[in-house]
Amino acid sequence: EKGGYDYFMLKEIAEQPRAVADTLLGRVAVDGTLTLDEMRLAPEELRDINKIVIIACGTSYHAGLIAKYAIEHWCRIPCEVEVASEFRYRDPILDRQTMVIAISQSGESMDTLMAVRYAREQRARVLAICNVNGSTIPRESDGVLYTHAGPEVGVAATKTFLTQLIACYLVGLYLAQVRNLKFGDEVNAVIEQLSGMPEQVERVLSMMEPMRDLARSLSGANTVLFLGRHVGYPVAMEGALKLKELAYMHAEAFAAGELKHGSIALIEEGVPVVVVVPSREGRSVLHDKIVSNIQEIRARGARTIVIAEEGDEKVRPYADTLIEIPAVPTLLQPIVATVPMQVFASELALAKGNDVDQPRNLAKSVTVE
Ligand code: M6R
Repeated sequence: EKGGYDYFMLKEIAEQPRAVADTLLGRVAVDGTLTLDEMRLAPEELRDINKIVIIACGTSYHAGLIAKYAIEHWCRIPCEVEVASEFRYRDPILDRQTMVIAISQSGESMDTLMAVRYAREQRARVLAICNVNGSTIPRESDGVLYTHAGPEVGVAATKTFLTQLIACYLVGLYLAQVRNLKFGDEVNAVIEQLSGMPEQVERVLSMMEPMRDLARSLSGANTVLFLGRHVGYPVAMEGALKLKELAYMHAEAFAAGELKHGSIALIEEGVPVVVVVPSREGRSVLHDKIVSNIQEIRARGARTIVIAEEGDEKVRPYADTLIEIPAVPTLLQPIVATVPMQVFASELALAKGNDVDQPRNLAKSVTVE
């Protein structure tokens, strides 16, 4: 049942192109029109929404952070993202015009469920993004968009994360279509690019040998730092979480722009720093800024592990290890940039002799608050 792999997690990483394709299947018409039937929210209701609040835990929270960049850009609706366990304890402002998106692989995380109940009491419209059919969170929500990743056995979320991203993009693009914003140009182009993502994930998986070699050489490190900007920042956070969860190592993610505000003091000789370099498309300012960040940390002794688009010659001179990923549009980059993070953490954990399917102290779904 592990399909020739030693661990379910490794099989689930390899299944990602299929999971992404299945999540897109039947939702994108040839002319680019999106059909998200199970959302059960009428176009009139969607046109009325003036705020979006995303609630989730762990890896699902990272999907929410990425969704915010996409939704605000495509839909021009203010979007907040919050860890579910904090949400209902701070008296959040919600009403009928608020759309709450609850992201949960299992559909059973108690923190997220309690936040959903709270949001519905406040009369917000709740949309669940879940992987498990008929689980509690979608049953208690107004609408649902299922990710079609198939069952995920490994405790660490992998293919469900990529499909959550796809679902979030679909919601953002659908809202933009319904609200007639930018439809016809940018939104149309992204819908087309989304259809190419299964192939891009397939490609990035075939490019991971250098990442495996590197991970095996780092099993003695005390800490690994992760840096990113824009959508690369949540990808860095996901990289750090995976490493803690699987390799039981200290790891921390920073927004690259925050380095100079304190965390650069952590950089000393030999500290491994994984940097997610933004795509060069459209946002060259960000790209140049991260190149300077890499130079700064390297000058202070960091061992730079740079995840960048193929053909990115500007970063090459500053990368102790360069991990190439396919070039895709900026907002979609997390789909491919997350894969090296998964490979890095799982390979390092295996090198340490850890069980990557069942990390210590953790459960697949957290049904207590
Ligand atoms: O089932 P959920 O998506 O609600 O679970 C949320 C988190 O518990 C989960 O993502 C956790 O962080 C993963 N083990 C991370 O790999």
